[in-house]
Amino acid sequence: MRVIEAALPLPLVRRAREAIVRLGGERLRQSYFTTFWLPRGSVPAHAVEEAVIALWRLAGARRCDGAEWWLGRAYTTDLPVEFHFDEDVKGRRRRHPRLSSVFFFNSVRGGQLAVTDQVPTSQAAMRLETVAPRRNRYAIFAGNLLHGVLDARGRTPGKRVHGARGRLRLTLVVNYWDRRPTCVPTWTESGVYRGLGGRRQSRSG
Ligand SMILES: [Fe+2]
Repeated sequence: MRVIEAALPLPLVRRAREAIVRLGGERLRQSYFTTFWLPRGSVPAHAVEEAVIALWRLAGARRCDGAEWWLGRAYTTDLPVEFHFDEDVKGRRRRHPRLSSVFFFNSVRGGQLAVTDQVPTSQAAMRLETVAPRRNRYAIFAGNLLHGVLDARGRTPGKRVHGARGRLRLTLVVNYWDRRPTCVPTWTESGVYRGLGGRRQSRSG
């Protein structure tokens, strides 16, 4: 795993965060399953896509077709994802991104990204590397490794952790693909997260 500190210019981090705040609670529970495609050479539609393009340069995945990105929003007392492989979930053939990566917006209790050395064809993990969430930290790892998020106590997530839920763990996840994953829309095509583009969400809508 490669970890880059002070990854993005702070004004960009601030603008991306303000755009995310405009979403309020939209798709909060589904945020890990609400992913978007950004083709190589795109003009960014909003600050979060600007951040994706800046992270792409750091990751160095130059020959990839594009980046799949999503917002990771979760409380570490009640994580919505288990350990997993990133893959083309709607594709017929099992495919993985070239590189997977996580940009952290804030520090939280626990919530470490944990990356094993287990690939889909191996029996079990021999090693586990962890990186704690810190503002403006960026972690990059091979796209075929088993990984997950640790809970508020720094353990493999299972049952809900009792007690105060603490701050929302906020990340921008970016996976770089040789070829576009199946049925992942661009932000414009998706029709969701309109608030990222600058308009406030109406209460009714
Ligand atoms: Fe993942």
